[in-house]
Amino acid sequence: MRLFEPLKINNMELKNRLVMPPMCMYSACRQDGGVTDFHLAHYAARAIGQVGLIIVEATAIRPEGRISNECLGIWEDKQIEGMARLTKAIKEQGAVPSLQINHAGRKAVTKDNRHLAPSAVAYNDHPVTYEEMTSRDIEEVLDAYREAASRADAAGFEGLEIHAAHGYLIHQFLSPLSNARDDAYGQDRSLFLNKAVAAIDETWPKDKALWIRISATDWLEGGVTPADWIKWIKGLPRKMDMVHVSAGGLQKASVHPYPGYLLPLAAQIRNGTGLPVIGVGFLDEDQLIVQALEGGSCDLAALGRELLRNPNKANDLAWRYGRPDLVTAQYTRAYKERM
Ligand SMILES: Cc1cc2nc3c(=O)[nH]c(=O)nc-3n(C[C@H](O)[C@H](O)[C@H](O)COP(=O)(O)O)c2cc1C
Repeated sequence: MRLFEPLKINNMELKNRLVMPPMCMYSACRQDGGVTDFHLAHYAARAIGQVGLIIVEATAIRPEGRISNECLGIWEDKQIEGMARLTKAIKEQGAVPSLQINHAGRKAVTKDNRHLAPSAVAYNDHPVTYEEMTSRDIEEVLDAYREAASRADAAGFEGLEIHAAHGYLIHQFLSPLSNARDDAYGQDRSLFLNKAVAAIDETWPKDKALWIRISATDWLEGGVTPADWIKWIKGLPRKMDMVHVSAGGLQKASVHPYPGYLLPLAAQIRNGTGLPVIGVGFLDEDQLIVQALEGGSCDLAALGRELLRNPNKANDLAWRYGRPDLVTAQYTRAYKERM
């Protein structure tokens, strides 16, 4: 069964196809965006539960790029130590640690910070004054991507996910609904993304996996589309090792999620780019997870809220689908003696 087949992405050796997608826990040290004991226990628990790939939550490349004051950060060297403890904890429990790096742009709700955006276009009814980024601001953020990638490498992450989804800064540059600039970054809305990838490529090793998380659609008239994404991904200055296919988040939109509702988008991006994809979105039901992988909609399946509810989901699936040998050794009695 594909669910339990290993997969190699660049040099990441994934033991199965289950992924913990990035999920902000708003539990970092308020002062310095540092890793806390909560993060160590939280991620180690999912690693113990046999998730193959863990993508640590959106981590800010600059202080003003945090979504909230409680977000993790990787904007200075002293944050490396906590991150290194986290990668060690995840690896020791048998999962592969990776990190999502982000700048929130106009979706930041931090206090005492600038609120940068490609254009001064409001996010829904956010009561925030936006500053249209100057070319100097842009250069500083691009430098921060380069440095964040270098720190993520030093901390021992084996994979790096560029957050270009959910209406955060890169997505804001890409969507015509949030980018009204008349300079080069408005004429070519993918320029900021391309420069961010080029900056990351300078420090993130070639033999470590690099991928992008996208919102394949804004669910809005005039927003980004899967066809845009296929073109942008093919034009990137470094070839991505895979794509994590999500959707939405740019502005309020009318969407009615149902189990697996994003899988057709994942399949479209997979076919259009020829790259492996992570599928996500209400993959809560066992048969749906199996079918998404067997049917070729996605190569990896990410379970978000389900893994918050049940860190041992991978163990449950291994037991249910005839692979008791894959259940965490220390927990086998919980399964054998269930009745
Ligand atoms: C508490 C929470 C925090 C989240 N934080 C992030 C994040 O940091 N980065 C991101 O790309 N997506 C984030 N998401 C979205 C999830 O990664 C995932 O795409 C979403 O929950 C849908 O998957 P699910 O239906 O399996 O939960 C978050 C979701 C939740 C529930």
